[in-house]
Amino acid sequence: MTQQKLTILDKFITEKPEFHSAKPNEICSILKAVEEASKAIHETINRAGLVDILGAAGSENVQGEQVQKMDLYANDRFIESLKKCGHIAAIASEENEEIIQLNTTGEYLFATDPLDGSSNIDVNISVGTIFSVFKRDKTGETSADEFNRFGHEQILAGYVLYGTSTILVYTCGSGVHAFTFDTKTDVFALTNPSIKTPENGSIISFNEGNFNTVNKGVQSYITYCKELNKEGKRTHTGRFMGSLVADFHRNMLKGGMFIYPATADAPEGRLRLLYECNPIAMLAEQAGGKATYGTQRLLDIKAQHIHQRTPLFTGSKNMMKKVLQFLK
Ligand code: F6P
Repeated sequence: MTQQKLTILDKFITEKPEFHSAKPNEICSILKAVEEASKAIHETINRAGLVDILGAAGSENVQGEQVQKMDLYANDRFIESLKKCGHIAAIASEENEEIIQLNTTGEYLFATDPLDGSSNIDVNISVGTIFSVFKRDKTGETSADEFNRFGHEQILAGYVLYGTSTILVYTCGSGVHAFTFDTKTDVFALTNPSIKTPENGSIISFNEGNFNTVNKGVQSYITYCKELNKEGKRTHTGRFMGSLVADFHRNMLKGGMFIYPATADAPEGRLRLLYECNPIAMLAEQAGGKATYGTQRLLDIKAQHIHQRTPLFTGSKNMMKKVLQFLK
């Protein structure tokens, strides 16, 4: 196999003047920190089973969920790398009830789910890191209220998907770009610039186990997805891995829609606004798709607290248009 000549992440970032209010060298340094932490996570995930990293850590997080050993490992790697980078004032992490203060001179806020879908590691299924960055308008100690922002104020959002290969995907507000980790050269190299999601899609990602606990509109839409066409062929295909980053990434590339609506067990929705839905929504829009919490744009929600939940509907434009007809 011939090795292609590819652009590495640092070079791509510094040459792309797309950072609006942020300075390219600062964004570059934040993404370098993400890169550093995710390389360590990549390496450890790949050795799961060989090193003692599988399974539960024996505690619960702020949402009452079992913390996995890998969650803690990933969280520590991010805190360490972001502290070193110097530009981050504080982190809101899924793993910590309170924000983590890093640098009083930092000009940016970082929200993250350091390892989303972490229990999937036990069964060798893809997991991801999700992150979101806001610019501050002051320096000094950060208060948790500073994270109470609109999603459309994000200046950087992305994820790292630890899948069959490890991919870092980010947007700074002008396009979505994906970089694959080359284990031979130890760099992230550009493999998919300016990703555009198909306007139409046939993949529907929804946890069917929730069917009887969601509202009538969502039920009718799911039932519609199961209808056959005139030739008796299926019109949609169902794919749900239970790993948001993997489900979203597949749908973004192939065309589809991911739905996690309010359920009887999670009336506010299950997914977290700041460090799951906001970054996914920004990426979705930048790729030409849409993201809502039902009928309204998700990026127009103003966060009220760092662990806030929300319903999420995201994907291809025309599927998002169709689902609206059922939700109104
Ligand atoms: O928020 C964590 C997460 O694991 C997501 O990655 C995934 O989409 C969702 O929860 C799955 O939740 P459930 O098991 O309720 O379908």
